[in-house]
Amino acid sequence: MTETAQTPNPITTIEQAGAQAGGTVTIRGWLYNMRESGKLLFPIFRDGTGTMQGVVSLKEQPEVFAALKGLPQESSVVVTGSVRTEPRAPGGFELGVTGLEIIQRVPDSAPYPIQLKEHGVDFLLDRRHLWIRTPRQAAILRIRAEAQRAARNYMDAQGYTQTDAPIFTPAACEGTTTLFEVNYIDDQKAYLTQSGQLYVEALAAALGKVYTFGPTFRAEKSKTRRHLTEFWMLEPEAAYAHLEDMIQLAEGLVSSVVQSVAKNRTRELALIERDVKALEKIVPPFPRITYDDAIKVLQKAGHPAKWGDDLGGDEETIISKEFDRPVVIHRYPTAMKAFYMATDPARPELSLSFDMIAPEGYGEIIGGGERLADYDTLVERLRAHNLPEESFQWYLDLRRFGSVPHSGFGLGLERTVAWICGTEHIREVIPFPRMLYRVYP
Ligand code: 4AD
Ligand code: MG
Repeated sequence: MTETAQTPNPITTIEQAGAQAGGTVTIRGWLYNMRESGKLLFPIFRDGTGTMQGVVSLKEQPEVFAALKGLPQESSVVVTGSVRTEPRAPGGFELGVTGLEIIQRVPDSAPYPIQLKEHGVDFLLDRRHLWIRTPRQAAILRIRAEAQRAARNYMDAQGYTQTDAPIFTPAACEGTTTLFEVNYIDDQKAYLTQSGQLYVEALAAALGKVYTFGPTFRAEKSKTRRHLTEFWMLEPEAAYAHLEDMIQLAEGLVSSVVQSVAKNRTRELALIERDVKALEKIVPPFPRITYDDAIKVLQKAGHPAKWGDDLGGDEETIISKEFDRPVVIHRYPTAMKAFYMATDPARPELSLSFDMIAPEGYGEIIGGGERLADYDTLVERLRAHNLPEESFQWYLDLRRFGSVPHSGFGLGLERTVAWICGTEHIREVIPFPRMLYRVYP
């Protein structure tokens, strides 16, 4: 370890350093990059909250200069210096470095593998544990955290109690084709949860208004920019609530999340070059169309869709292009949706369901609706969907003992954050993406 200064100066973060302009601070982080220009060094430090350029001159700081010169990228350092306003520096401030302590020097023989040039995405995904250090990736993860915080705040403020659903489950929730089977103890079979919904329904009957926010799993064989095999879902569920209540809750939730990010993560949005104006428009009410009308929109756009067809990613993109805000599509054909969907009494071929489609081609961010409350119809549906009735006895109890109308939805966190960030693929908005053919690192 090289020590060139011991400092009693306040330890701060790069994010906070601007507030100390004119003063001397200590920052603990890493050397992100360095430009050397004769007798001057321009290191760029990062500490997780941002990056900051430093300046070291050989004449004024010979010891620091010697310690820093040639220091490999990503070596960990504690730096001390005076914070100066510098309009030309990224962030508006620079650090006149007066002290440097090297915590770990990356060996010259094995340099940091991620250079500042462009790398292929597979190269980066193989090194995701390091890739997350780059300013763009760190900014995205900070936006994700803000989205999670804002979502919880909104739900809490609406009187919903946060709760948790199990990860190991005895049966499917969203169809049997995307189930991950787990060899549970003593050769019992279990499945990783596809959605906490069935359990939040039980919790809604116990606590009234609830939500979960946790990981869910789907053995998705599709290799698209919208699919992960492990993703996070926020799932509200409310007793005595109907479809309309959930559409309004979803609008409020999504706009509140987007506005919180726009307000509290301006630096990060600027860093990733996201157009904030597009986000500022996201205020309720959102446009709504029925599934019937969605088919008409597609046909008008020259798409061969006909009533009864599922709306996949391509169809969603065509529809979302008509609007600058998320669009709610409601009342899908019952035959297209999961077994638990309530039917529209006015038109029994339709379900009391809705999806919310994000703008700019990001696709479905929310799916939900009203649940079947009637015991006999639910049993019929379980049979029609070939689901094992024994595994659903506990769920049927919810219809045996004080069944009430109730509704809920699931918001996919990564789809939502990918749209907010404007990333090309949702794999960038989760720390360690799990996808078809990728469970490393
Ligand atoms: O529409 P889905 O399948 O709905 C449900 O699971 C309901 N049981 C939720 C509920 O009512 N409580 O999934 C909900 C959302 C989708 O709109 C999408 O945003 C996200 O979860 N999602 C995925 N995100 C990433 N990768 C995948 N493979 C996803 N599958 C669904
Ligand atoms: Mg869906």
